[in-house]
Formats: sequence, C-alpha cells, structure tokens
Amino acid sequence: MRVDVVSIFPSYFDGLALSLLGKARDAGILDLRVHDLRDWTHDRHRTVDDTPYGGGAGMVMKPEPWGLALDELVGVSADAPAVTGERPTIIFPSPAGELFTQRTARELAMREHLVFGCGRYEGIDERVFEYAAELGEVRLISLGDYVLNGGEVAVMAMVEAIGRLIPGVVGNPESLVEESHEDGLLEYPSYTKPSVWRDRAVPDVLLSGNHGAIAAWRREQQLERTRARRPDLLGE
Ligand code: ADE
Repeated sequence: MRVDVVSIFPSYFDGLALSLLGKARDAGILDLRVHDLRDWTHDRHRTVDDTPYGGGAGMVMKPEPWGLALDELVGVSADAPAVTGERPTIIFPSPAGELFTQRTARELAMREHLVFGCGRYEGIDERVFEYAAELGEVRLISLGDYVLNGGEVAVMAMVEAIGRLIPGVVGNPESLVEESHEDGLLEYPSYTKPSVWRDRAVPDVLLSGNHGAIAAWRREQQLERTRARRPDLLGE
C-alpha cells in the first residue's frame, strides 16, 4: 500500500518509523511518504494560511499549495503507484467528518493508495475538497467528538489502525481477530505468569485446560465489560 501524508509538521510522523509499521516500511509492505506542505509554496515566507473571507477568528489554509500537492501526488502526471487504475482515496482529518471506527480501518486497509491532508488553523479552503474530489474519493474523517489542534495526531492514529491490518504487518493474524471491536465487543481480560501475584490469583478456568470452558468464560467477560463500559455497542 502507498500512503502519502501532507503536513506542515512532517516530523510528527517520525514515530511511524518505529515498531511494526517501521518494519512494514522496511519490508516494502507499506510505502509511506511524508511531505511538507510548505514545499509547494513559492513565496519567501512559505505562506500556507491567510485570513478568512467574511471575517471571523483564526486563519484558513490557502488553496494553492494544496492544489500543487494534490497535482503532484495524485494528478495525472503523478508518480502514483503503478497500480490497476483504482482512484486514490484522499482523506482529510476533521472534527466535522464521519467517525473513524475499526470498520473504517478495515475498509481503508484494502485500498492501494491513501493520501492524508493534515489541516491546521481554522481549516482548509473549501475549494480544495472540491478539487480533490476530481482526483479521487474524498473522505473527511473524525477521530472522535473532541477538537485537536490539527490533523496530525488523528492521521497518526488512522495510519497505525489501518497499517496493522495490511496482510503481513502483524506477524500472527490471529491476534487481529481476538481484539476489541473486531467482533463488535470489547476484548476479554488477559493474564500471564505468575499464576499468583501479590495475593491475586489468575481465574481458575484459565488454568483448567478446558478449552470449551475457557472460550465460554472469555465470551461472558466480553459481554460483561461491553455492557459496563460501552453499552452503546450492544444497542443498549
Ligand atoms: N482535527 C482536529 N480535531 C480533529 C478530530 N477530532 N478528528 C480528526 N481531525 C481533527
């Protein structure tokens, strides 16, 4: 999968060189490229923002650098992945977008080319979204119902959630199946050695060797936790 990220703070993404995603990049499974939006400015101050038409607080990101960035990354002459002609998916993180969930991550993990555009300030000139829609499928996606200072942290979270679902990134694919949200429930509790720690014993059933009883206990724990912490997932 090819992933391009455009930001005025590219060093935010240094962390993606670590751990599983770093290994996936080294192995060539994930071709992740981070770009500085200011490289597509042409004035001395490398300006990316300006005051809003109609007045109001804050600054708005100018359309010109975004247009040039999109032309280079997904335009007709772009050095885009040599793929089957699938349109790229262009994602703008925004608190005004659709909610990002495990389902979104699964869906996006099947794409060949994702482009993330990180907004800052009061947002990006609206015409950028219209132009991007001519080049690919545009998605505005929110990490949750709270406001971050910009899209970078949201994109870090999305790239990690999506990247670990690409086949070969997580060594044991079974570990992907048994985690929170994969079956609509929260994950069951886990224990390891020692069997007693500070007077606290591991539940007997897990030491019983009875796989049926263990599976039933884990299911019950999933339901109990989900009911207590996230009744919305059960439609309650
Ligand atoms: N940018 C600012 N807040 C955000 C949020 N909640 N989700 C995605 N991008 C954002």
